[in-house]
Formats: sequence, structure tokens, C-alpha cells
Amino acid sequence: MKIPVIIDTDPGVDDAIALFLAFSSDKLDIKAITSVGGNIPLCKTTKNALDLVDYIGKNTIVSKGAEGPILRKLETAEWVHGESGLASVVLPESNIKLQEKSAWDVMYDEAVKQEGKLNIITLGPLTNVAMALIKYPDLKDKVEKITMMGGACYIGNTTPAAEFNIYVDAEAADIVFKSGIPITMVGLDATHKSCIYENEITEIVNVNNRVSQVVKELFQSCLRVCKYFNLDGAIVHDALAVAAVIDPSIIYKEDHYVTIETKGELTYGKTVVDIYNVTKNKANAEVALGVDREKFIEMFKGMMKVYV
Ligand code: RIB
Ligand code: CA
Repeated sequence: MKIPVIIDTDPGVDDAIALFLAFSSDKLDIKAITSVGGNIPLCKTTKNALDLVDYIGKNTIVSKGAEGPILRKLETAEWVHGESGLASVVLPESNIKLQEKSAWDVMYDEAVKQEGKLNIITLGPLTNVAMALIKYPDLKDKVEKITMMGGACYIGNTTPAAEFNIYVDAEAADIVFKSGIPITMVGLDATHKSCIYENEITEIVNVNNRVSQVVKELFQSCLRVCKYFNLDGAIVHDALAVAAVIDPSIIYKEDHYVTIETKGELTYGKTVVDIYNVTKNKANAEVALGVDREKFIEMFKGMMKVYV
């Protein structure tokens, strides 16, 4: 039985690879792609989402979400993803017409339709999911799981304390983590163990099909940025969140109580993970702490075989 999913995203180089992976899987029934302001402004994440879905060869609905965070000004990351958001990749203009409904209305309507089976995969800030929960409080009872790329127990990549997706809109993350919806948090603790090394990238993209050049450029862009952080491999953060829905055994996870810092001057946007359960609170998330890197690489190789 395929898993009905909505992917909420701010493409974004690693988001783009994640979308290639998601659409290659026969485990996922992708009902919609929803865009959010994050890596780059909403107008560009929306364009990239439309162009990617069309280029991949699907006619999945694409719906636009929030320009920026609930309270704060949007802080983008062009230095990582380039002005366009897709580094050097230029895709043909999409022929897909943007869905009239907003991202949060699409999420709610699909959740009702799927009768509690809808899975939401978030690859950017959590603003759209938070907006959906604010507008439709009963959404919390209609979503099977949210698998998110975001947060971390021990490190930050935007401040020393915070990972980008949470940092951009910690208030939204706070709403989502308090919603009661089952969460799988695929954060930096796992993604930083999922490096794909240069020789492995070469192996993955060493096929001659209609997407191999684009995927190669996306991986190489990831690799360039990771070298800036003195990492010797490409970390495709968002693809690991998608992979964790396709095959949950790809990550090692533990149940923990997670809260979001929304007030701290130095710690705003930190996912505070109660590893030792000192608060005695019930866990509200599965937190990914490890990854089966070999499985991840094999999944990418399988992905490339699908795009003939
Ligand atoms: O911290 C990594 C996350 O922030 C990824 O989702 C990347 O696309 C950026 O949005
Ligand atoms: Ca992203």
C-alpha cells in the first residue's frame, strides 16, 4: 500500500535531490508539493517546485504557502543554494499551473480525504504546517505523521545552537512539536553521518539518463558547500528525511521529548532534546541519531535507474 504524502519544501539544492528521490519511489503516493519561503524567497521556491515537478515528469499539484515566518523576518540562505536556489542548474520553465488553494488548505483537505493516513514530509521551515494547525485545529487528529528535516540534539548549522529549518521559524516549530502529531525528526545528528563522498557521487550519477546531469550538478553543489564546513562529503539533508519515509530502517532513532527555544538570545531555534528524560515528560518525537549510509547510497543508485 503506497503512503499518501505531501512534501512541503523550500527548494533548495538538497530539497531538489530529495524530490528526485521521492518521485522515484514506488512506496510514496505524492498528493501535493507545497512551497514555503526558506532557503530563498517564496516566489523562487515556488518556481523551483513547479519546474522540478515538470522536469521530473509528473503533474502533481503544486501549491504556494507562506512568504516567511509567523513572527520574524525571513532569513534566507542564497550563499548555500545560489540566487536561484538550484545552484548552477537551469531547468525548463514549468507548464504546470500553480494550484489556487494555499498550502495549508491543500494540507487540510488532503488530510480529510486520506482519513488520517496522510504523511507530511517537511524539508524547510515549518511555517505552512503551523499555519494549517492554526487555521484547522483538528488537523492534529488527521495527520498520521510528520517526518521533518530539521533540528539537532547537539549542533547547529545556522547558529551554534540552531539548525536552519527550525531557526527560520522557531515559533512555527514550537506549534508543530506541541500539536501532538507523531513526529520523526531527521536532524543534523543523523544527516551529518550520511555524507556521500566524491567517489560515491560519481558512482551514483554515472548513468546516462535524462536527469543524470542535473542530479550530478546538484550533488556537486552540495559537496562544495560541505567542503566549506570542512566536511569531506555531500550532506543531502532533505533526501534523508524522504529516505526515512521510504525505508524507516535507514535511520536509527530514539523517542524523546523535544521542545523549541523561542526566547533565547543565543539559543533561539534550538531543538531542546531531553535525551535523559530529566523532565519526565512523554516523548513527542522520534529523533534520528544515526543512519545506514550504505542503504542511503543504494537508494540513490536505485533512484537513478528509475529515470530513463
Ligand atoms: O539545515 C538544512 C536544511 O536547511 C535543509 O532543509 C536545507 O534545504 C535548508 O533548508
Ligand atoms: Ca530544505
